[in-house]
Order: sequence, then structure tokens, then C-alpha cells
Amino acid sequence: MSEHKRENFSSKLGIIVATAGSALGLGNIYRFPCEAGANGGGAFLIVYLCLALLIGTPLMISEFVIGRRSRSNPVGAFRRLAGKKNAWPVVGYMGVLCAFLILAFYTTVAGWTLGYLAKSVLNHFAGQDLPQIQQQFVDFTNHQWWPIVCQLVFLALTALVVARGVKDGIEKWSKVLMPLLLVIMFVLCVKSLTLSGAGEGLRFFFNPDFSKINGRVLISALGQSFFSLSIGMGALITYGSYIGKNDNMASSALGVVLADTLVAVLAGIVIFPAAFTFGIQPEAGASLAFTTLPMVFQQMSGGYVFCLMFFLLLVIATLTSTISLLEVIVAAFTEELQLSRPKSAWIGAAATAVIGVLATLSFRTGSPLHIGSSTVFDLLDHVTALYIMPIGGLLIVIFVGWRMKKADVMDELTNNGKLRAGIRNAIRLIIRYLAPVAIAVIFISQLIGK
Ligand code: PHE
Repeated sequence: MSEHKRENFSSKLGIIVATAGSALGLGNIYRFPCEAGANGGGAFLIVYLCLALLIGTPLMISEFVIGRRSRSNPVGAFRRLAGKKNAWPVVGYMGVLCAFLILAFYTTVAGWTLGYLAKSVLNHFAGQDLPQIQQQFVDFTNHQWWPIVCQLVFLALTALVVARGVKDGIEKWSKVLMPLLLVIMFVLCVKSLTLSGAGEGLRFFFNPDFSKINGRVLISALGQSFFSLSIGMGALITYGSYIGKNDNMASSALGVVLADTLVAVLAGIVIFPAAFTFGIQPEAGASLAFTTLPMVFQQMSGGYVFCLMFFLLLVIATLTSTISLLEVIVAAFTEELQLSRPKSAWIGAAATAVIGVLATLSFRTGSPLHIGSSTVFDLLDHVTALYIMPIGGLLIVIFVGWRMKKADVMDELTNNGKLRAGIRNAIRLIIRYLAPVAIAVIFISQLIGK
């Protein structure tokens, strides 16, 4: 056992920063507005907030508990904690598979952020009207090779950082510009709120029409909260395995959930007022953020600089998320297959590239790369967020709530008795009862509702 050789995050700030780096990304700025727009705005928001806080936080804590207790990758973690002869390591394999699948379509969009960074350097949005900006998105995503080149560059950047290791790579990168992203989101909010469609946009986003809450809204919000918080697939088991023994996991998890939710809500406050002002459908889907935001920058004084800064920060926020996805694969390869870290990183990235390029190609207008009625891209998104992550999350809370010994879980939650047990007993009860029941009910209700 090479326990003494495993790296740890260096401080409490280390876990928060690294986990926030994983959580903050395209999930907040691209996927959240897209899902909220397609699922009734305010109705989605309210369900999302409840689920992120009530289910997301305890699930994140559960993953930290499994990770720190086992000091292992997700596959090894379940093997160590559950004893050898049972099926629990399957949850770990599912997580590694899920990391592959997410990374494949995530890097499609990550590639777009690089492409849009280049566009903002070249000032491509200046003086363009809405149809022209919409056409730019279509042209870019349909281009013969640009989206693929951008995707592969992004994957290579991710592999480069991950190959260097947790502390040097992940923590340093995450620490750098994350707070700046928050600042720029605030600035964008202020601008969006002065636009003529602000009232209508805010009403759409904040005024819940409860009659719109149905099975689809519930599962979409659940999937979005898991996706955005990086939970249900082992990324945070992996990061949990690098947490030091004196870190307060419950308060760190709460901090990350609040920060992640704040950035998603800010993204909504930027995007919906702007969408209503310029006449962009909130249900526009993948193009929503990539057409709305350039329109906002264009209306701002100093728009060139803000646009540039925004896409640069988005690239970095996205990179800290792809790093955490590849880290799941690399931790499993190094510990289960005894491969070296650099080899694992490059093999993982190369394998991802194969499916990833298919996802990118499937996005082209008229592409034959469909399975049933959805593109490979949509399929990867749906299978991971609506199926694998909810099932993974359910099994993780059941494992911590019912399979692990109460004393072991409480040891982890209280740092061997150093932290107060009161509220942590309540957290364990949520993990044991509320979280599994809620996830199961939502998951089953959408299956029946179909
Ligand atoms: N949470 C990341 C985001 O919102 C995506 C992600 C999902 C990262 C799962 C790691 C694991 O962009």
C-alpha cells in the first residue's frame, strides 16, 4: 500500500478551491441557463435550489467521507470500504465510465470556449447584429476542423496539467483566477439589469409558475444539480481522497455548494434579461449562452476587454473542471492498473478524444451521427446527467448511510471527535433517509411519467 506516497491538498483552502474548481464551469454558465430556459425558468430555479442544498450538499459530504476514509480512487474506495466479495466496486467503475462520457461531450463545448476566446481577441463580435452573431455560432460549430482542433487542444491542456499531479497542477490552477470569474459575473449582471428586457427576463427567471413543475422538471433539476456540483460519479471521492485529516468536510462542502449556486444564479441574471432584450428564445438550447453573451458585450463600453476577460476566465473555469474529470480516470488507472501518472493522463485523454470527436461531429447540422432522435452529443449529456449520476448518487448515499459503520462515518464527519457531533448527526440522518428517498422518488417518477 502506498498510502504515505499519496498527495494531499495543502490546506482547508485547498479542498474548497479544488472542489470549487471542479464544480464551477460550463455547468453553471452554459448548461444551467440552457436547462432553466427549457424547463420554465422560475419553476426550475426553485426546484434546483432545494435539490442542490438538501440533496447536493449531503451527497458531496458523502463522497468526501468515502474518499478520505479509503484514501483511494472510486473503484479502490468501494473495494477497501466494503470488503472484497461484493458488487460495490461497480459503483466506482460506473463513476470512471461516467467521467469518460462527460469528458467526451464536455470538451466539445470546452473547445467552443477556446474558439470564442480567439474570436474575442480578433474582435469578431463588434458591430454584429443578432442574426450575424447567431450565424457565427452555426458557422463555428459546423466548421470542418476548427471545433475538433479546439477540442483536442483543450484535452491536451487538461492532460498536461493532470500529468503533473494533484498539488502542482490542480490546486495551483484552481486557486488562480476563480474569484475573478465571480467579479466579472457581477459586472455582467449590472449591465444586463440595465437592458430594456431586464424586467421580463427577471420575471421569467425568478417568478415560479408552480403548475410547470412536473417529472421532467424534477429530474432535469436533479441532474443539473449533480452535474454542476460534480457529484454522483466519483470526482469528489477522488478529491476527497486528497483531503487532509484536519479539514472540515461539512463546512467545505456547504461553501462549495453556495459558491456554485451563486455563480449559476448570476449566469441566469446575466443571460435571461439579455435574451428577452434581444429576442433570443430562452429555450434556444446549446447556443443560448454563446449568442446572448456576445450581444451583451457588444452593448457595453469597454466590451472588447470584458469579452476577452470573460472568455479567458471561462476557459480556465472549464479547464479546472476537465482536470477533475480526467483525474478520476487517472487515479483509477494509476492505482488499479499501476500505470504511471503521465501515461494514464495521456491514455485517458486519447480514449476520450475518440468519443469526443464523434460528439463534436454530431453537432453539425444534418449530421448522421444520431442514435434514435438525439445526437451523440445530446445522448452523452442525457445518459450521464439523467441516469448515471442520479443512480450513482443514490448508491453513494446508501453506501454511506447504510453500509458503512456509523462510528466510521461519524469519525470522518467529526475528524475523530474533534468537531461537534450535533449537526453532523443530522447530516448523517439526511444521508440515510431524506437523500436516498428523494433521489429514488424523482428518478422513478420520471421513468413512470414517460
Ligand atoms: N461540475 C462541472 C461544471 O459544472 C462539470 C463536472 C461534472 C465536473 C462532473 C466534474 C464531474 O462545469
